[in-house]
Amino acid sequence: MRRGLVIFLLVNLLIIAFLVRSVSTLLSLLLEDAAADAIHHAELPSPNSSLIEQRPQIIPKIIHQTYKNETIPEVWVEAQRTCIDLHPDYEYILWTNEKSREFIAAEYPWFLETFDGYKYPIQRADSIRYFVLAHYGGTYIDLDDGCNRRLDPLLAYPAWVRRTVPTGISNDAMGSVPQHPFFLRVIELLQQYDRSWLLPYITVMYSTGPLFLSVIWKEYMQDRPSEAGRVRILMQDEYNRFSWSFFTHHRGNSWHGKDARFIFWMGQHWILLTFLGFSLAGVVGFCLWWSYGRVMLLGAKYRYRYTKVPSLISPSRLSSSPTRRSRMLPTLLRRVSFKEDEEARGVTETSYELSRHDD
Ligand SMILES: *[C@@H]1O[C@H](CO)[C@@H](O)[C@H](O)[C@H]1NC(C)=O
Ligand SMILES: *[C@@H]1O[C@H](CO)[C@@H](O)[C@H](O)[C@H]1NC(C)=O
Repeated sequence: MRRGLVIFLLVNLLIIAFLVRSVSTLLSLLLEDAAADAIHHAELPSPNSSLIEQRPQIIPKIIHQTYKNETIPEVWVEAQRTCIDLHPDYEYILWTNEKSREFIAAEYPWFLETFDGYKYPIQRADSIRYFVLAHYGGTYIDLDDGCNRRLDPLLAYPAWVRRTVPTGISNDAMGSVPQHPFFLRVIELLQQYDRSWLLPYITVMYSTGPLFLSVIWKEYMQDRPSEAGRVRILMQDEYNRFSWSFFTHHRGNSWHGKDARFIFWMGQHWILLTFLGFSLAGVVGFCLWWSYGRVMLLGAKYRYRYTKVPSLISPSRLSSSPTRRSRMLPTLLRRVSFKEDEEARGVTETSYELSRHDD
């Protein structure tokens, strides 16, 4: 029995080790604080600073935004205005559905099938931003982010993305020079990550959204890119908290923010989620029970002997204790014991049942 238990625990450990290995990037993301690549406060002049920027601005002065068509909803027009008004010398491009598709068809035809095949429009909105940054360079800003100050200081980095709390990076504001190796890798891997994960939220997050970008980023950093290939991180304080931050919230109510969408979604689909939870628990439980049954069987070789019983059980035998006891054992266990017995001794016509040695 003790030996059986050890094997049982060992098998479980192996399974856990395998699962941990398969999600190691995701787990390491949880521990990544991005401090090594953070853009420090000291590097950034304050908004109305008289400091003369010495650093060359290498990111092109282009602002990219996306919406399905040219008619931007009223709630976001104000946010968009703040960016356009602050940057009269920047080129501004709104990527509508039609324009995005034309761009992909003309410049990245190998991606068109994947692009058209995305199930959720948000996946197209996510992926187009990586392509335009890789192609033209510039700064991408979500429509619900307004600008709080000019973006010029951020143009001095080859690429930057925004840190999110508690983990990873987001794709709602980012900048890059054209052909930056990070964004080239991102567009290269989009097809590979185009998988369905059953739940829409997870599918979107992991195929094109922030989780996808975070995983690529984490793996990209492990290759220790050169200075020109580095991806700098805009931390939370510089994003939208303070007067010196670059962006502003235009979401009205923070409960309408992106993070909250998942919670709303869960609220709407709680029956499905409960069902999935129970199914998962059931599957895990069954696997454990099955493994345990196998281990018990291994142990049984030492504690039980096989007793031959007639294949046609007589009525008097039906009520005898070994048969009744064996009925209480899991069916699988009995069936497996049959099989092993048959294999071991070449018995085909006779059935065997487990019974205690001392019976
Ligand atoms: C910078 O100057 C503008 C206009 O003069 C002003 O509205 C803004 O509050 C100033 N920002 C800071 C952080 O002082
Ligand atoms: C854009 O889409 C909205 C909502 O679907 C629609 O009301 C509007 O007419 C569209 N605008 C154009 C220019 O097609």
